[in-house]
Amino acid sequence: MSRIATLEIEGKKYEFPIIEGTENEIAIDIKTLRGVTGGVTTIDPGYKNTGACESAITFLNGEEGILRYRGYSIEDLAEKADFLEVCYLLIFGELPSKEELDKFHADIKEQSHVDEDVKKIIDGFPKAAHPMGVLSSLTSALVAFNPTSVNVDSEEEMYNAIVRILGKFPVLTAWAYRKRAGLPLDYGDNSLGYVENILKMMFKKPTDEYVANPIVKDALDKLLILHADHEQNCSTSTVRIVGSSNAGLFVSISAGINALWGPLHGGANQAVIEMLEAIKEDGGDTKKFMAKAKDKSDPFRLMGFGHRVYKNFDPRAKIIKVAADELLAELGIDDPILEIAKGLEKEALEDQYFVDRKLYPNVDFYSGIIYRALGIPTEMFTPMFALGRLPGWIAQWREMRLRKEPIGRPRQVYIGETLRDFKSVEKR
Ligand code: CMC
Repeated sequence: MSRIATLEIEGKKYEFPIIEGTENEIAIDIKTLRGVTGGVTTIDPGYKNTGACESAITFLNGEEGILRYRGYSIEDLAEKADFLEVCYLLIFGELPSKEELDKFHADIKEQSHVDEDVKKIIDGFPKAAHPMGVLSSLTSALVAFNPTSVNVDSEEEMYNAIVRILGKFPVLTAWAYRKRAGLPLDYGDNSLGYVENILKMMFKKPTDEYVANPIVKDALDKLLILHADHEQNCSTSTVRIVGSSNAGLFVSISAGINALWGPLHGGANQAVIEMLEAIKEDGGDTKKFMAKAKDKSDPFRLMGFGHRVYKNFDPRAKIIKVAADELLAELGIDDPILEIAKGLEKEALEDQYFVDRKLYPNVDFYSGIIYRALGIPTEMFTPMFALGRLPGWIAQWREMRLRKEPIGRPRQVYIGETLRDFKSVEKR
């Protein structure tokens, strides 16, 4: 028997179907609400209670700290898969066979050159430009260099756009870094694996050979996997909503990059390290920063803490904390910031303010410590997040297209002036 929800508005009752997901999440389907009620709408700023779509990509249970891509647990994937396999899994729904993976990689490599004229655009940016701004601009600019518009109803054309962006985006990310570092804008080496090649593109000096340390490569692989998708977060929702206007993949991704940049979202990884540095500079007094975070008259928040969905623990943070410990030990790095982070976490987890609000370390709390150990500068942390999130954005864009979702267009409740007469400027 179909389940229904009954809504009573000013004495009149309306019925709406209840839908159920494969993990038993239930939702009230209010598609007909305005029609049947004669214009009543709902209001939910920040979409805290609103499902924007049905999706088969990522399952997240914030109460139990569960994260799965296409049914596979994040713990399993982080330990056993590599990033390119996860890209394929997220985008196409299944883990690839060896042949499928080889073809996918070959198609991506085929697209890994970027028009030399892109270097002229990079030349136009000041050296101090934040790489997130550079990256979003260059991703938009890819459209100008690939001007044939993609028929978003054709699976083949979507596939071509997907391998194109997977091929070019790491080059753009590396170039955004190399510009800042004053290094020549080079290409990588297509005989290498996808992640190894990213490291080479970033760090190869013109005078030296570059061979990635396998420990570094494995750590980056893991970080990228952990960031690869997170269902309908701010940047992913942005990608879906921009794409819903039939805008192409590159510009939808570019919009996602800008959404990710904010310090409440992906920009938190940079903000965490800046905060930990500030605590260190200040003599290591974590209590002072805890007090600031709890003071409602102070806008300061403990960066890397709290999450809209996770109210118990963030499974990604758990994996990253262990990985950070292992990596620093393996590389023989003694980073005082790691100790400050651990101390801060311990204090926060025992503090009533954080306990009451269910605030736990999130993915960004320890990731910056790993990036630092890999030699990646602070301003590049959020671009690295973008690199990891790319397959998620692509998968969500593709799903939105295949499901033929309508253009995204929320409603509002107007609270401004009602009709008034225009007064000419002399009478105002
Ligand atoms: N430090 C201090 N107080 C906090 C924090 C924090 N990091 N996060 C939330 N709170 C408080 C907040 O002030 C509010 O208190 P009250 O109920 O007294 O008004 C309560 O906890 C609920 O916060 P909220 O802002 O309503 O929660 P939200 O779901 O809208 O925001 C969040 C989630 C992640 C934006 C927020 O926790 C935050 O700003 N965290 C710091 C930034 C950060 O680490 N962002 C990365 C998120 S994970 C990766 C990603 O998404 O990119």
